[in-house]
Amino acid sequence: MRTKFPVEALSKIQTPFYYYDTDMLQQTLDTVNSEASKYNNYHVHYAVKANACQPILKQIQASGLGCDCVSGGEVKACLEAGFDPKKIVFAGVGKADWEINVGLDADIFCFNVESIPELEVINELAGDKNMKARVALRINPNVDAHTHHYITTGLNENKFGISLQQMEKVIDHIKQLKNIELIGLHFHIGSQILEIDPFEALSIRVNEIQDLMEKNGINISVINVGGGLGVDYVEPDTNPVPEFDKYFATFNRYLNLRKGQQVHFELGRSIVCQCGSLITKVLYVKEGDNKKFVIVDAGMSDLIRPALYEAHHVIQNLSSHSTKIETYDVVGPICESSDCFGKEEQLPTTHRGDLMALRSAGAYGQIMACQYNCRALPKDIYSKDII
Ligand code: LLP
Repeated sequence: MRTKFPVEALSKIQTPFYYYDTDMLQQTLDTVNSEASKYNNYHVHYAVKANACQPILKQIQASGLGCDCVSGGEVKACLEAGFDPKKIVFAGVGKADWEINVGLDADIFCFNVESIPELEVINELAGDKNMKARVALRINPNVDAHTHHYITTGLNENKFGISLQQMEKVIDHIKQLKNIELIGLHFHIGSQILEIDPFEALSIRVNEIQDLMEKNGINISVINVGGGLGVDYVEPDTNPVPEFDKYFATFNRYLNLRKGQQVHFELGRSIVCQCGSLITKVLYVKEGDNKKFVIVDAGMSDLIRPALYEAHHVIQNLSSHSTKIETYDVVGPICESSDCFGKEEQLPTTHRGDLMALRSAGAYGQIMACQYNCRALPKDIYSKDII
């Protein structure tokens, strides 16, 4: 299945906007569910940070996934979308008191905790409410994810998690905290991981840590291995659904679980990326000295990934039927040189008014939009609403 764009209907909507193919999202969700359910103790939480639009959250909730939040705002968005608090996990290196209280008041499944000071605050706030907060310790496994340095999180040099050296001290400390119940270990090594090796390395590291914990007589029921499965940004129509089968099979092969242990996953990009495109209109085609520029009405404020990570999203001209292919730089209207979506793009002859799609933009696209240059935030349009 590939995304089909209802060009006629889309051309009537004010650009730029995000277009979500809800059938594509459903196909992805169905695949995740059928692959994960091959293992009776695997549970997938959707990483809300990738896209928090309510219709998307509701569709994901309806398919039975849990959710992984990193802010009080995300926890609220998930409650609003109907997620069962028992399926909500809450991570983040810097949770404010009010955010912890949002989680406690909803009695969410688990806080993924990253430091002793944070444990102490959760203990105190849970004590005020006569509650016991369930926590998983986020351990920094020092495993290289071989991905962009901005989205690598599992190395000692990163700010995330508790180092392996400090882990035992932290576990010891928890014994003194009456309002904390340690239920799990949490890991996340990075994002957009296309090789299977880093997940294998993570599993082996988790086994070592479990051996150590067993020696110290500590039992935990949840192993949360985070997210990170990458998607095909180069050929989104060839591989619209990521290889969930290989991903889950890797953990099944390498992870040594103890009796009754549950494995949690926090997948974001792999679930929502390919269902979304940023739709933009060509404002001008400008002849430079040695090149032609296609100036579109979407900018880095709508999709910041190219400017921030040098990411590339396939650019598709939805209107042009020209058989002549020309070379263009595709740029936005914002006053920054980094506001560029593609250099030397091969596109059919392009004209003012053509509708363009920036593909694979469902994850970390709309949610990272900002209002730089006093621009409006992009809206979201869903295929299911277009007749
Ligand atoms: N769990 C934790 C603790 C995370 O930090 C992340 C992503 C995920 C799960 C979900 O990872 P995913 O399955 O989506 O790879 N803005 C960047 C990506 C940042 C990812 C941050 N953490 C981008 O546009 O590429």
